[in-house]
Amino acid sequence: MSQTDSSPAERAAALRALLHHHAHRYYVLDAPELPDAEYDRLFQELQALEAAHPELRSADSPTQRVLGQVLEGFAPVRHAVPMLSIRTETDTEASGAEAFDARVRRELELAGDAPPVEYAAELKFDGLAINLRYERGVLVQAATRGDGETGEDVTQNIRTIGQIPLRLQGCDAPVLEVRGEVYMRRDHFERLNERQREKGEKTFVNPRNAAAGAVRQLDPAIAAQRPLSFFAYGLGEVQGWALPDSHSALLDALAALGVPVCAQRTVALGAAGLVDFHRAMGAQRDALPFDIDGVVYKVNSLALQQRLGFVTREPRWAVAHKYPAQEQITRLERIEVQVGRTGKLTPVAKLAPVFVGGTTVSNATLHNLFELRRKGVRVGDRVIVRRAGDVIPEVVGRVPGERSGYVPNFRMPRECPVCGSAVRRERGGLDHRCSGGLFCAAQRKQALLHFAGRRAMDIEGLGDKLVDQLVDGGLVRTLPELYTLGVAKLAALDRMGEKSAANLVAGLARSRQTTLARFLYALGIRQVGETTAKDLAKHFGSLDRIMEAGLDQLLQVNDVGPVVAQSIRTFFDQPHNREVVEQLRAAGIGWPEGEGAAASDAPQPLAGKTLVLTGTLPTLSRDEAKALIEAAGGKVAGSVSKKTHFVVAGDEAGSKLDKARELGLTVVDEAGLRALLGSGGPG
Ligand code: IVH
Repeated sequence: MSQTDSSPAERAAALRALLHHHAHRYYVLDAPELPDAEYDRLFQELQALEAAHPELRSADSPTQRVLGQVLEGFAPVRHAVPMLSIRTETDTEASGAEAFDARVRRELELAGDAPPVEYAAELKFDGLAINLRYERGVLVQAATRGDGETGEDVTQNIRTIGQIPLRLQGCDAPVLEVRGEVYMRRDHFERLNERQREKGEKTFVNPRNAAAGAVRQLDPAIAAQRPLSFFAYGLGEVQGWALPDSHSALLDALAALGVPVCAQRTVALGAAGLVDFHRAMGAQRDALPFDIDGVVYKVNSLALQQRLGFVTREPRWAVAHKYPAQEQITRLERIEVQVGRTGKLTPVAKLAPVFVGGTTVSNATLHNLFELRRKGVRVGDRVIVRRAGDVIPEVVGRVPGERSGYVPNFRMPRECPVCGSAVRRERGGLDHRCSGGLFCAAQRKQALLHFAGRRAMDIEGLGDKLVDQLVDGGLVRTLPELYTLGVAKLAALDRMGEKSAANLVAGLARSRQTTLARFLYALGIRQVGETTAKDLAKHFGSLDRIMEAGLDQLLQVNDVGPVVAQSIRTFFDQPHNREVVEQLRAAGIGWPEGEGAAASDAPQPLAGKTLVLTGTLPTLSRDEAKALIEAAGGKVAGSVSKKTHFVVAGDEAGSKLDKARELGLTVVDEAGLRALLGSGGPG
């Protein structure tokens, strides 16, 4: 439609439809078709139109997500159909699934040789249940579960969740209530807590509590800042909408209406199918971007569900099958202070060993002194430990109860527990730091390990045991001293044979030929990660130019802001650090000159493209593939998202491939990758 010859009402309707479509691509499918700026432009056009013609403003307009005022409380909502809960199978072993299938077969009076029952198997999301009421396709009300009969009206807050459609696509049924779980992704949760920590404010115990808090926020503007997500798993009241005949088809139908439905689900046959699903999801659990506390099995046929019916407040046709808990209670035995690579002192809880999130945990971070105090934990307390995904285990709070006697409050040491240097804290800062720099053995060890790391200088054979020995034995005090080690000196170390000594010396020799980006990253400059190091190398092309660059010049580099620029400047302004660099160069470390400059002259067929690698490629290792992609100007990301352009899949590609298919991304094999490297490829 042309912009000029349509009426404001027509244009507003067209804009709303466009924005709904693109919001769905962006929030639900993670596959935007428009640049963000273009979306913003359309959004602003609609806002302007509605400001000029307030009568055009409708409840389902994308401009109306954050509206309303701070509430005094939430109005009660009586559910048209009660919100039930499901029975939980606490037996986390396969037998849990077998018991459920046996019960279903018995209730359905199936003969022993009757074919297996078909189930819909899905994840049990760890968030809170919400009922979304759509009338004629428009979201009119959102309510919490409450006691199952009556919940609370949280419409204002739920509207701020970008993933939840304000209007269903192609559905004008008089009533369609969609039920599902509002949750917070783990990375969003970590970032939210990080922000809270920086502000010195209270952190949230886990994503579920953070999500529940956000949904019950009385101020919708605050709720809007808490990043929430949603997955549908069922229905409430329905009028004038034809039900599919199975649960799996129902979820497909909801997805087609634009409602987020989780991709990790399947139709499973009999107990064996359920056990497979439980196992497969258990293996993927840590890699999922959100917390789950189990899986849910539902008899797939809606007709059979009806036949099975309910016992008291639970359906006979569904069960939740748990996984080991991600939170456990244990005793805090001691608090130790660890010194990190940058000198940061972290209080670490030494715990009575406890099985949590699938492993035994006996250490957990307490982050910093202030957070420790806010949580009010003291030695001897019973504390709650959380371990989810690959996040480091953390003490999230204490179990209220009597303390048996006086326990002094924890204090940060005034002197570094490793080197005795003064401990300092920036005015107003939260972190305590050892001022000893590389004089501090702990910092030296961490610096050496970082320097030797696979993505840095890649020194084979230099692991943490050996670094301990080298530093504690006084053999290595600075990075350059590493390159003075000879076989004789090394072989004299405890448990070090001639052969491993020779291997390390060979590893050191090999590491001398490197790249500027690796070298920069290896130096361990605060704020300079691998990507920034690459950007710097590419931009400046030589180390001398980086060392001499002023703040203005550094700020020209892709993604380098004032904090990063200042950190680079500070590092190279210290004569001691320049000396280390010179000594390393004198020890024979080198890289092809003009690395960056040459790279930008070379053809860049993948410039601006983001690729994800998954599975094993027939001839290229992952690092080789990555290097080729980067040389062609592309970036390699760790996970598939709306921003991915291509997914390169090899043998045994896993969930990344599933996600790519689901998002409709272009998937190529190694030959396809080579074609892209040669040509620039489609798009
Ligand atoms: S079905 C009648 N499916 O678990 C069946 N519930 O006790 C209604 N939950 O609080 C629930 N993931 O919020 C269902 N895939 C899933 C679920 C799920 C999480 C929650 C739900 C409810 C509790 C069930």
